[in-house]
Amino acid sequence: MASALREPLRVAVMVSGRGSNLQALLNSADAPDSPASIGLVVSNVPNVQALERAKVAGIRTEVVPHRDFDSREAFEREMSDVLESASPDIICQAGFMRILTPWFIERWNGRLINIHPSLLPAFPGLKTHERALEAGVRVHGCTVHMVRSEVDSGPIIGQAAVPVLPNDDPDSLAERVLQAEHRLYPTCLKLIAEGKVQIGSDSVFLATDLCDERQVLLNPAAV
Ligand code: GAR
Repeated sequence: MASALREPLRVAVMVSGRGSNLQALLNSADAPDSPASIGLVVSNVPNVQALERAKVAGIRTEVVPHRDFDSREAFEREMSDVLESASPDIICQAGFMRILTPWFIERWNGRLINIHPSLLPAFPGLKTHERALEAGVRVHGCTVHMVRSEVDSGPIIGQAAVPVLPNDDPDSLAERVLQAEHRLYPTCLKLIAEGKVQIGSDSVFLATDLCDERQVLLNPAAV
């Protein structure tokens, strides 16, 4: 079916901070022919920039402060109830910095995706750019993946690679990766909204001609 005939994919976004990835998703969803529509932005931290970005875009915001709850389960049940109110087809974690329990992941199984600042399965967890520099890799990047209960695991939807340059520090490398994140996340969400992403138990099949065998990142470049 042509995407123009589909209902837009209903998207909710979970955030915790700056929200630059949220902004990239908002910008992309703002296009007149966008196959995705963001209906809710929910943060576990009050007063963060991501909430401001959503308000400027006219998107409903909610705050579920994890500190107000006695247990992780109670926090997640409230978060889940808030999400349910938006009936999302897909939930994007965009800089959402709480580890989720298997209960929450099971509740939203198949609908929960995340962006992580490394080429998974390399460098799961925190401080990915520092660790990439320490490891001496020449290529680093970011990954959009389905969320599974093991942290930063799950079938990979898309990845973007950037070179590591000789004078990089964690900040310069993070900035280069972040620019790639802002291109990758809307691209992946659009493919999902167009029905071009088929999720298996361990991997994802992409029904798209955007995968190009001629694309190669050599670092250092060929001489
Ligand atoms: C992004 O780099 C994102 O990949 C990372 O946090 C940053 C959020 O920036 N996420 C994680 O580390 C999740 N494990 P943003 O709030 O400006 O999008």
